This record gives sequence, C-alpha cells and structure tokens, in this order.
Amino acid sequence: MKNIVWHDTKITKEKRSRLTKQKPCILWFTGLSGSGKSTIANAVEEKLYNNGNYTYLLDGDNIRHGLNKDLGFSEEDRVENIRRIGEVAKLFVDAGLIVLTAFISPFRKDRDFVGNLVEDGEFIEIFVDTPIEECERRDPKGLYKKVRNGEIKNFTGIDSPYESPINPEIHIKNVDISVDEASDIVIEYLIKNKYIRKKDDR
Ligand code: ADX
Repeated sequence: MKNIVWHDTKITKEKRSRLTKQKPCILWFTGLSGSGKSTIANAVEEKLYNNGNYTYLLDGDNIRHGLNKDLGFSEEDRVENIRRIGEVAKLFVDAGLIVLTAFISPFRKDRDFVGNLVEDGEFIEIFVDTPIEECERRDPKGLYKKVRNGEIKNFTGIDSPYESPINPEIHIKNVDISVDEASDIVIEYLIKNKYIRKKDDR
C-alpha cells in the first residue's frame, strides 16, 4: 500500500504464546442458521476457560450489532462480513488467543480467504452439520417461520446458497449428540494436535 509501511513489534506472537502456554488459532465454526454453531462454540470456550486457556468468541449476531452493523445479507455484504471478521480474528491470533468464530460463512472462497490470512495450522474449520429440516424444526430464533411467511429474503439454505466445507478439520454431525459431546470433539482435537495441554500436564 502506498506510503504505508509495516512496523514489526518487539513482542511477537511467539513470545505471547509462551506466556499463555497455548498455540493460538482460529476455531472457525460454519453451518446453517440454527445448526448449533454458537451453542457449541460457547461450550468449547467454557471448557477452554476452565482449562486456563485464553480465548475470545466472535459471534455473528453480536458482531452485526457493532463492527458490522452497516452490513446486510446480500452476497456482497456477506463477503465483507467475513473479510472483516477474518482480519479481526487474525489480530486476536497475533495477540496469542484461541479465537472462536460462529458465522454462517456460506461461501467456500471466503472461508478459504480467512484460512490464507493466517499461518498453516492456525485455521481450524469446524463444520456444524445439521440438516436444514432439523434447523427449521428447531428454529431457535423463529427466523425460518418468518422466511416461510415471506418476511425474510435471501435466507441461507432457502433462497441463498450454503456451500458445505469439503475438507473441514473437524466435522460435527450435530444430530443425536449432546452439546457436551460435540464440544468434547473440538477439545480432543486441540489436545491431540498440541494446541493446548490439559491443566494438570502443564
Ligand atoms: S453470514 O452469512 O454473513 O456469515 P452471519 O453468521 O453473520 O451470516 O449472521 C447470520 C445470523 O443472522 C443468523 O443466525 C440469523 O440469526 C440472522 N439472519 C438474519 N437474516 C438472515 C438471512 N437472510 N440469512 C441468514 N441469516 C440471517
């Protein structure tokens, strides 16, 4: 960029991770509205907190109240939504945190864009896979009902596309399992791949 130079900082991501005793990363939850992304992400964050890890959760509905309140649900706005979240998540990774994000993020190329913003191994895609019939049956926010009444347009999975991940690091089939079991899948992955260590092993 013209007339703008990058300044390196003395305190680096590596130094901060030594302090926090964890490998910073983005846990990117993707899935349909009502699939359970926020619920599972919240449960994972609680388990990480109880294990003494440093985290931050970025949630679709909340971010749309602030940073992204100027954005709607057109394809263009959704792309910009994810781009900003990706940049924010990258900053939090640099700060040494385990960042959890819960956005529909319906487009593959946008999720790939975020994956490419950070270093190898720092982007963990988690597909919360719940069939749309089941999301509509649960309808936690009453939105599917509104869609069927014609009150909402461009709704993901109905009249706006959702592109499922092809090779997610973690695939949670979120039917017939509890929130506890679903969140354990993520925690086990993080332990197995050395992002975190159990409290007693540190
Ligand atoms: S994304 O597609 O841009 O990634 P995001 O996760 O930020 O979406 O926001 C999705 C949330 O906004 C949904 O969980 C739902 O509560 C609400 N919402 C409102 N209108 C729509 C719509 N047309 N499509 C999808 N979600 C919508």
